[in-house]
Amino acid sequence: MKTILVTGGAGYIGSHTLVELDKAGYQPVVVDNLVNSNIESIRRVEKLIGKKIPFYNLDIRDAEALEKVMEEYEFFACIHFAGLKAVGESVNKPLEYYSNNMGGTFVLIEQLVKHNCKNVIFSSSATVYGVPETIPITEGCPKGMCTNPYGKTKSMLEDVLMDVQKADKEWNIVLLRYFNPIGAHPSGEMGENPNGIPNNLMPYITQVAVGNRECLGVFGNDYDTPDGTGVRDYIHVVDLARGHVAALSAIERKCGLGIYNLGTGRGYSVLDVIKTFEKVNGVAVPYRIMPRRDGDVAECYSNPQKAKNELGWSAEYGLEEMCRDAWNWQKKNPEGYN
Ligand code: UD1
Repeated sequence: MKTILVTGGAGYIGSHTLVELDKAGYQPVVVDNLVNSNIESIRRVEKLIGKKIPFYNLDIRDAEALEKVMEEYEFFACIHFAGLKAVGESVNKPLEYYSNNMGGTFVLIEQLVKHNCKNVIFSSSATVYGVPETIPITEGCPKGMCTNPYGKTKSMLEDVLMDVQKADKEWNIVLLRYFNPIGAHPSGEMGENPNGIPNNLMPYITQVAVGNRECLGVFGNDYDTPDGTGVRDYIHVVDLARGHVAALSAIERKCGLGIYNLGTGRGYSVLDVIKTFEKVNGVAVPYRIMPRRDGDVAECYSNPQKAKNELGWSAEYGLEEMCRDAWNWQKKNPEGYN
């Protein structure tokens, strides 16, 4: 059985990926410093798969601590999720973002080299495209014009990893550019568990629906889109998790460098999401129109054809399932993992 180092494995996308790794016959080993996640997510994964997952509470910038884990296992590959990810916060605390995301990745790569593991899957984001030049967005669209430190770290780390692979062709590196992951495991055992006030749309909707918050603010209804609200490519987190397993198969085939959008290719507006959520779940989501949010774009959705052609992966779930599963999770866990 191949062992996979999963950094940030206790987080939203990481935890869902653990389940899919297990299903595909891999043994995940998690390192996470739990700054933005909860150990309970690992317990839930263990409950779902009926097995223990080796877990190490450490910051990947701590080379000594990481090295101890590297010495204990022989990793086939690393899936690197660990990082800070709040756009607004990154504007106010740029150094924390550069230190965590850049610094953490440098230490990780050094350790991987030292222990001869040259297979990496990196959690990147559609944010690297900035204001997209054309839509739907293909992997060939120019990147790098990010307006916030979070996005810049993702874009710069992509460059770093590409250079690493260019210098040494033994590396297989897959950069996965996520669109907007939402939803939860269909069991309702795992889901998104943001700290404090949610920044993103779906966790805000579910918290309003469950009664933790009064009213959703819709950020702008005067965009050049069919109903004036922002359009995004929402993707079910389980589909996204499976994209990582598909990327591992590519690595098994020695893919070299691979860059893929992970999205559905369909754009939905904020109002589409609210209406679908209300219809599928039979609950009301009160909202009011607010001013636009700084840094938001009108439309952002993927062309996911490359992942389909080269990884044999495409998203299976639609918006209705995303809304159903997000609600199922929130209903069963009104306070998340807390
Ligand atoms: C955001 C990040 C992106 C990150 C992604 C992860 C920004 C600018 N971008 O994308 O870098 O990779 O999350 O999922 O933060 N909306 C509301 N009310 C809310 C929240 C959101 O109307 O309370 C709207 C937004 O204006 C947008 C849509 O919902 O049109 C989606 O927003 P969000 O979930 O925050 O995702 P993105 O901004 O697309």
